[in-house]
This record gives sequence, C-alpha cells and structure tokens, in this order.
Amino acid sequence: MKDAIYEEMIDQSVTEIFTKAKPFMELMTKYRCALMEIETKFKVLNEEFSIRYNRNPFESIKTRLKKPASIIEKLERKGYPLTIDSIEKNLADIAGIRVICSFPEDIYILSEMLLRQDDIVLIEKKDYIANPKPNGYRSLHLIVDVPIFLSTEKKHMKVEVQFRTIAMDFWASLDHKLKYKHDVENPEYIAAELKKCADIIDEMDYRMQEIRNLIERNPNREKLVWCAIGDSFTYLNDHLDETDHRVKKGYLSRTQIKCEQRYDMEILNLGINGSVTENFLDVEIPQADLFTILLGTNDWNEGVPCGSAEDFILRKKGTIVGHMGIILDRIHEKNPDARIIVMNPVERGDFVYILDPTNNAHGSYAKQNGQKLKDISDKIFRCADSCEWVEAIDLHRLSGFKQGNVLHFKKIKVDGEYRNIEYPEYVQYDFDPIEDEYPYPSAAGWMTYDGLHPSDEGNERIASILAEQILMIPKEERIYV
Ligand code: GTP
Ligand code: MG
Repeated sequence: MKDAIYEEMIDQSVTEIFTKAKPFMELMTKYRCALMEIETKFKVLNEEFSIRYNRNPFESIKTRLKKPASIIEKLERKGYPLTIDSIEKNLADIAGIRVICSFPEDIYILSEMLLRQDDIVLIEKKDYIANPKPNGYRSLHLIVDVPIFLSTEKKHMKVEVQFRTIAMDFWASLDHKLKYKHDVENPEYIAAELKKCADIIDEMDYRMQEIRNLIERNPNREKLVWCAIGDSFTYLNDHLDETDHRVKKGYLSRTQIKCEQRYDMEILNLGINGSVTENFLDVEIPQADLFTILLGTNDWNEGVPCGSAEDFILRKKGTIVGHMGIILDRIHEKNPDARIIVMNPVERGDFVYILDPTNNAHGSYAKQNGQKLKDISDKIFRCADSCEWVEAIDLHRLSGFKQGNVLHFKKIKVDGEYRNIEYPEYVQYDFDPIEDEYPYPSAAGWMTYDGLHPSDEGNERIASILAEQILMIPKEERIYV
C-alpha cells in the first residue's frame, strides 16, 4: 500500500531519468569537465593580463550545473523528449559560467580573447549589452563548444558563458529574486522602477569606466605617431559617409581608443581606396614611430601573382610579396627604429559597393586567377614573419572572418521574388546591379556590411587584435621577476 502511494507520488519523468541514472551522471560529469576547461582558460588569461596590463580582467567567476529538476522542467516546457541525447541536443545551458567584470570594455576584451582560442567554437552570441532586453537586462551571453579529452575519446560540449559587470550582476540578482515573488502589489510600477535602475546602472558603468581610464591614463603617456598603410579597410576609417554610415567607427579609431592608456596616438591614415601593393611602391613614406600595413585583398581580386619566399627576399616586382618587401624596405630605411606591423587580408564574401552596385566582385570562396585568398594571406604572413624587424599578425586566422559570418544573407531576386539566401546557397544566384535592389540591407551585415568591408563588429575584431599587438611590451623591454 505504502509503495503504491509512493509510486504515484513520483513524477513519471523523474522515474525515467533515475532509471538512466548512470548515463545521466556520466553526462553531468562531462559538463563539469567542460566547465573546468573554460574556467581554466579564464584563469590563464587572468594571470597573463595582470602581468601584461597590470590589472585583472574580471572580478570573479561562478560556475553552475543545471539541477536535474530544472533540466526536466525545461525539457517538458519546451516539448523535448526526456532522454540523455535530448539534453545534449536541445539544451545549451546545462553547464553555465558567469564571469563578473569591473567594466563593460573588459567584457569585450575578455570574450574576444576566449573566442580567439582555436579550440573554442562560437555557437551563439546574444549581446544584451548592445541590445538590452526590454526589462533592462544587460549581459553578454555566449554559447560555445569546447572539446574535453577523456581517456578514450574527445567530446564536444556546450557551455553557456555570461559576462556581466558587477553593476549588471547586482541588478540581475534583484530582478531574479523578484521573478519568484508572485504576490507583489503593483508589478507594473516595480517593473518600471527596475527598468529605470537598469538605465542608471548602465550610465554609471560607463562613467566609472571613464574615470578608470582617466586614472589609469599615464600622465607621461608616450606620444606615438602611427602611420597606417592600407586599402579601403584603412581609408574608410576617415570616410564613414562612404560606408553610407553603416559603420560608426573604423579599426584605426578603435585601436587608438584601446591604446590610449599608454599612447597618445596621432594617426596618419595613408589608406588608398581600392589600392594594391604596387600603389605603395612610390608613395612618400612619412616619419612615424609605428607603421601598420594591411594590404593584399585587392591584389588577390586583380589577380596579381602572390610570389614565393624567394620573390620576397629578392623584392621581385610584379608579385605581392615582392612589393610588400619593397614597401617594408622603404619604411625601414626612413625609420630604422620604428615598429612595423604587417597584417594579412581576411576572408571576403560577395562584394557589392553600397554607393555603386556595378562595382562588385565575388567572394574568396572562389579562386581569382587561380589563387586562393587564404594562400596569399598565409604567404604574406610567413614572409613578414621571417623578417626580424617586422611583426606579423595572422589576421586572416585570428580575426575569424569566415564565409559563414561575413554576411548573414544576400537578398536576391529568384523567379521574380526577393529571398534572403545564406552562404553557401547564395553563390549560385546571379545579381543584376542595375535592376535589383541592393542585396545587403542592414540586417544582412555581420562581420562586413557589404560583403567586403568590415562592419562595426568586424572593425572591433581587427582593432582588438591589433591593439593587443601594439600594447604588447616588446620582448627586449620585458622585466621578468
Ligand atoms: P532560456 O535559456 O530558456 O531561459 O532561454 P534563452 O536561452 O533564450 O535565454 P537567454 O539566453 O536570453 O537567457 C538565459 C539566462 O540569462 C537565464 O537563465 C538568466 O540567467 C539570464 N537572464 C536572461 N534574461 C534575464 C532577465 O530578464 N533577468 C535576469 N535576472 N536574468 C536573465
Ligand atoms: Mg538559455
């Protein structure tokens, strides 16, 4: 009798899970391992950051595994089967890690550093800081895939990473408490007050960040003249109207801000729209402390032969790496003490110029004159890296521009009707620059806004990689304790 009642009392679903207790526990162990992996990554970044920049990128880290009861509740609520496979397939927040930072900009620095690690794959990103929830909730949420290595297998696990500032976390914890109180007297008033608080907190976060930046701004900041050589990526930084105002800030300005603690930078923008390496063989080289070069994408598009390591050494004209060598020599001769940083070109999708659609080019998924853009990028990186007075950044790899994320879609007329078509499907459709609408409405933009030129997000990626290199203390100046 007692057993019968007991049977009835236990929820079917709980019984179901308990009969599979062992595989369930095993799965939870894997999630726990995935949390350990990510937590370690953050701890490593913390160590490095505190040495390099003399500050900690985050205040605290909390990890949590979703409780069995919550897992069951969520599966049931969303109508998914109550099985082990279903948990892995349908729920991305079994393993959760919350990183609490002091300032909003640290959130982006830290998340970029995580995403740049080559075993981490971004599955989903929700930026509730750039786009807060209507109730005022702010945080940056990432779902990432991280491999864990067990004795006999390598397994990919999903982990939800939430980044917040202390202030955002303070707000969210109060908001969370109120969610469970259903008997409050005037919920609308409370919701409106909470929203106001969220906005005050947001303003405060940015003001505190500014104060921090003022305090940390070294009064003896070094003056640094930065000469940026490049094509339209660089040129557009100071011609945002030519992006039809799709871009608010280019990579030069973003880099300048990221470096302002240490350097009082003056930028000489030598970017030439549509330029190839050959265009810089006779451009007057100014006096500067730092030179950056970001060229090659137009050389690829125009089919300029890349050239070999030998062509680089011989500075052979008519090849991309030969031209690069000549430019480097010209800079080095005039500025023997300047730092020189070479970046290689990133992947590109189908480009259509926003102010003149007849100016367009296919993406780097296809070869141009028999050459892959990636191979050209690799060559530029390896040649620059082989030169001891040059610093090379493998921007192609680090920036994460890929065919799948340069654009969300291309809007193309198919059988008389417009459709938003994703890569790789869009490749097979033609676009008529005279008759058709511009194929990239704002929502189509991702790492680029027009298939080629970086959006704000793309520029931010490039700037954070470049700023990190600029801020890196040159080896000979490092003091080891
Ligand atoms: P669920 O995971 O099913 O909740 O849906 P989702 O994945 O679409 O949600 P989202 O990524 O937006 O949020 C997931 C987590 O973020 C929640 O579990 C909370 O920890 C946090 N969160 C989201 N919105 C709010 C909010 O309005 N207030 C608070 N306090 N936390 C929130
Ligand atoms: Mg979620």
